[in-house]
Amino acid sequence: MDKGNVKLAPSILSADFSHLGKQVAEAERAGADRIHVDIMDGHFVPNISMGAPIVQSLRRVTDLRLEIHMMITDPDFFLDQFVEAGSDSFLVHWEGNNNLHRTVQRIKSLRKRAGVAINPATPALVLEEIISDLDQVLVMTVNPGFGHQQFIHSTLPKIRRVGQMIEQRNLECELEVDGGIDEATAPLTVAAGANVLVAGSSIFGAGVGVCAAMHQLRRAIDGVVR
Ligand code: DX5
Ligand code: ZN
Repeated sequence: MDKGNVKLAPSILSADFSHLGKQVAEAERAGADRIHVDIMDGHFVPNISMGAPIVQSLRRVTDLRLEIHMMITDPDFFLDQFVEAGSDSFLVHWEGNNNLHRTVQRIKSLRKRAGVAINPATPALVLEEIISDLDQVLVMTVNPGFGHQQFIHSTLPKIRRVGQMIEQRNLECELEVDGGIDEATAPLTVAAGANVLVAGSSIFGAGVGVCAAMHQLRRAIDGVVR
């Protein structure tokens, strides 16, 4: 498992869409590792967000990896259009997918990075038979569907368990967390083993500007022992 620098993945769900290009450029300058794009269809989660045209626009303004978090009932159906729009990696949910292995293989056959996301109530052990095939695991630290929610502390032992699975198998797989990540909760997740942090409102909604918010977040996790 990569114990190097913890990576920050700003989620544009909380960005100002009238200045999206500018906000993403600012995040890039402040050291964002990738841009996290939340796709919601109003079925898988009780909210709708954006689609492939946003990815297409982002592709024109950044070279950062565009990571697509698919909170939709039929991710397989939409993969091609998101790839065509310029996506680099896909996070698909374990929940509601009867053919997860097939979805993961499909993503890999499109030569994109594949990750599986698990909701707060889903145990780490569902990953046992798939984790060796993955580039990333995403542990949801809120219930998916909305930004600005409160971090669920009972997910911390699960982050630790997924970290152990990755280490025991000696995998390169990233351990990412998503939801309620701010200066107070980020260090807890890093101490539990997370090495990629998705953050929306604490970066784009902080009121101090994207750069300052990212530096604050980075300062909060610097020096946390893993
Ligand atoms: C929630 C999304 C998150 C969201 C996080 O369903 O998956 O990526 O943008 O937002 P914050 O960081 O505000 O909790
Ligand atoms: Zn997300």
